[in-house]
Amino acid sequence: MLRKIHSANVNAYTLNPLYFAIVGNKAPMMKLPERRWLSILPLLLLPLSLHGQNVRKQSAFDYVDPLIGTVNGGHVFPGATLPFGMAKAVADVKGENQGGFASDGSDIIGFSHMHDSGTGGSPSLGNFPIFPQSGCPGDDLDNCKFTQAGRAIGHINGTVEAHPGYFAITLNSSVSAEMTVSNHTALYRFSFPKRPVEPDTPLSPLILADLADLPGSRTNGAISVDNTTGRITGNGTFRPSFGIGTYTLHFCADFSGAAIRDTGLFANNRGGPGKSLVAQADGVNMSPRIMPTGAWTRFYAAKSNGQILARVGVSFISVAQACNSAENEIPDFNFDETLKVAEDAWKAKLSVIELDAEGVSDDLQTVFWSGVYRTMISPQDYTGENPLWDSDEPYYDSYYCIWDSFRSIHPLLTILDPHSQTLMVRSLIDIYRHLGKLPDCRMSFCKGFTQGGSNADIVLADAYLKNISENVDWTTGYEAVVSDAEDEPANWAVEGRGGLQSWKALGFIPTDDFDILGSGPRTRSISRTVEARFYIPSQFNDTLVGIPGNDDSGAMGSFSTMTMLGIFPNAGQDVYFITPPFFRSVSITNPSTENTATIYNVNFDPEGRNVFIQSATLDGMPYERNWLRHSFFLNGGTLELVLGPTERYSMGV
Ligand SMILES: *[C@@H]1O[C@H](CO)[C@@H](O)[C@H](O)[C@H]1NC(C)=O
Ligand SMILES: *[C@@H]1O[C@H](CO)[C@@H](O)[C@H](O)[C@H]1NC(C)=O
Ligand SMILES: *[C@@H]1O[C@H](CO)[C@@H](O)[C@H](O)[C@H]1NC(C)=O
Ligand SMILES: *[C@@H]1O[C@H](CO)[C@@H](O)[C@H](O)[C@H]1NC(C)=O
Ligand SMILES: *[C@@H]1O[C@H](CO)[C@@H](O)[C@H](O)[C@H]1NC(C)=O
Ligand SMILES: *[C@@H]1O[C@H](CO)[C@@H](O)[C@H](O)[C@H]1NC(C)=O
Ligand SMILES: *[C@@H]1O[C@H](CO)[C@@H](O)[C@H](O)[C@H]1NC(C)=O
Repeated sequence: MLRKIHSANVNAYTLNPLYFAIVGNKAPMMKLPERRWLSILPLLLLPLSLHGQNVRKQSAFDYVDPLIGTVNGGHVFPGATLPFGMAKAVADVKGENQGGFASDGSDIIGFSHMHDSGTGGSPSLGNFPIFPQSGCPGDDLDNCKFTQAGRAIGHINGTVEAHPGYFAITLNSSVSAEMTVSNHTALYRFSFPKRPVEPDTPLSPLILADLADLPGSRTNGAISVDNTTGRITGNGTFRPSFGIGTYTLHFCADFSGAAIRDTGLFANNRGGPGKSLVAQADGVNMSPRIMPTGAWTRFYAAKSNGQILARVGVSFISVAQACNSAENEIPDFNFDETLKVAEDAWKAKLSVIELDAEGVSDDLQTVFWSGVYRTMISPQDYTGENPLWDSDEPYYDSYYCIWDSFRSIHPLLTILDPHSQTLMVRSLIDIYRHLGKLPDCRMSFCKGFTQGGSNADIVLADAYLKNISENVDWTTGYEAVVSDAEDEPANWAVEGRGGLQSWKALGFIPTDDFDILGSGPRTRSISRTVEARFYIPSQFNDTLVGIPGNDDSGAMGSFSTMTMLGIFPNAGQDVYFITPPFFRSVSITNPSTENTATIYNVNFDPEGRNVFIQSATLDGMPYERNWLRHSFFLNGGTLELVLGPTERYSMGV
């Protein structure tokens, strides 16, 4: 969608953004597309009239609906996560499971601890799923279900519940699962039936851990189970979903709530005794044939509340680090306390925005706050988890891809959460420092496939111009951007740009370019046309299908949020185009400077008739531009827009 609106502008910068921004360092683009912008306003504002005013919900937090975008290819991760957290727990379905769970009614195959959100293509992560059963039929271990196909089970309609930091579902077996997280640890609370559901299946819960991931990409792995504590630990080597190479992940699962009866391993559909095993891919075939492999811990019936907690730490470094994180972050398996910390973290993130939403439908408020929420799911903070190089710099991962995130995700973060944005920028520069190029796509410590150019350049330019300068090494950042512009990489499929010789000599890249410096896809030489890529009205709402296509790690969420805030960034420049907010007023308090910027609509009309700006004042003085600079958000102020029902052409320019 964004690409359609902005592709004309964006393509002009794609090849050289920071270069222009820093070297040129002149006031940006003075010729403003005011009339074109104003003319799409009626479209943008249409949904205002969709619903009447209903019962008011309590708070921003209550409006977030993590399930929006969990059908029809939205691929949104709807489970429990902290803002930018590494641990992301959810029930994984057998169907369209890029985000783990989808609201498509397909069977649940496990509960896993790491996910991506809103990605296209194939599924990713979903490593080491655990799965609970309340007993083995006939009390015979071999009658428990170990393989994905065997254990797959539906859920009871109406039992899915999701809010920031929390996800719950009841399996068709009557086992209910709730989950919450800390930064590197997932905590599950399974409630087992209090009496046997089937007469021949005495209550003796079994929880297995499977050395698998969602794409089925594991090559090697190993798993162990401790027969006194029930602890299951292991590792696996997996492939990234949209990149090259492999990554290794480790986990550490502990249990609480019931006495341990016995422990063991499984291979294929057979369970038995044993302490540890090493799993290897069948090296004979090009693609690994992976035998379902894992370990299990079986319990005596849980205490009177029927609950067993499973705590799973994850680490890219080692099993020891996974166990340490779990023990330090959730020492006593306290579910309610862990959940409260997670909820409070989200409330704090949302608290920087204040709306006067009187008269605005719950539908629109849900779209708005859910968009803010989805902007802060990814990229994931893997600081301290980097197995590739030693560094004191932060490390963020799961950029899917910056092609999708530079337009509105990073600009929105720059306003709402400049600290996190700064850490991401530092992380990008550190990746350049150690790998020689900035990424466009990067996941699970692997290089991902570049999309439309080297868009990290724009993220850096945007951050530079907006002064998020907290400990950013701009000298190296500038070097990184110049490298993208000047130095062709051997494989521009995963970093940098191809065709640079022609670009430098001709100013464009011919479709039949002769390029012997490197290799990669030759699609970027074709200029993309502006399409005629829908606007907000019909496409964003509070239903499960409420976003158009993939969320792209929050790209759609941040797009709707910025549009409804009445500011749209032109990423890579210190410019926000002004449109009337969808609310009477919006205020954003910058968490770094603690200054508040307010946009106020005079003649605000929740029915969406007064959508044209007649005149404006900034801090009481007439304001003649249709754009703002970032200093508004740094220093605070009040922009007052006077609205009317018809277009007025005289402002701006
Ligand atoms: C759920 O379990 C009930 C009772 O065993 C069964 O009739 C039904 O088909 C199951 N549904 C699914 C979706 O598994
Ligand atoms: C459960 O929900 C699905 C999808 O919404 C629906 O197709 C199915 O009929 C429902 N089943 C029951 C038993 O209500
Ligand atoms: C998660 O990690 C972030 C970044 O290090 C930190 O600011 C935050 O306090 C951590 N949250 C919890 C609940 O530990
Ligand atoms: C996985 O664990 C096994 C058993 O502890 C160990 O031998 C192996 O080196 C580990 N693999 C990796 C890649 O860390
Ligand atoms: C645990 O395993 C050890 C040997 O590996 C064995 O000696 C011990 O009896 C086992 N304990 C239980 C409770 O099964
Ligand atoms: C919600 O949005 C989706 C796609 O973004 C659209 O297909 C659907 O018709 C919309 N639903 C409503 C009730 O507006
Ligand atoms: C950023 O800082 C520079 C130097 O301190 C200043 O000139 C510029 O106005 C600032 N920009 C913003 C958007 O505040």
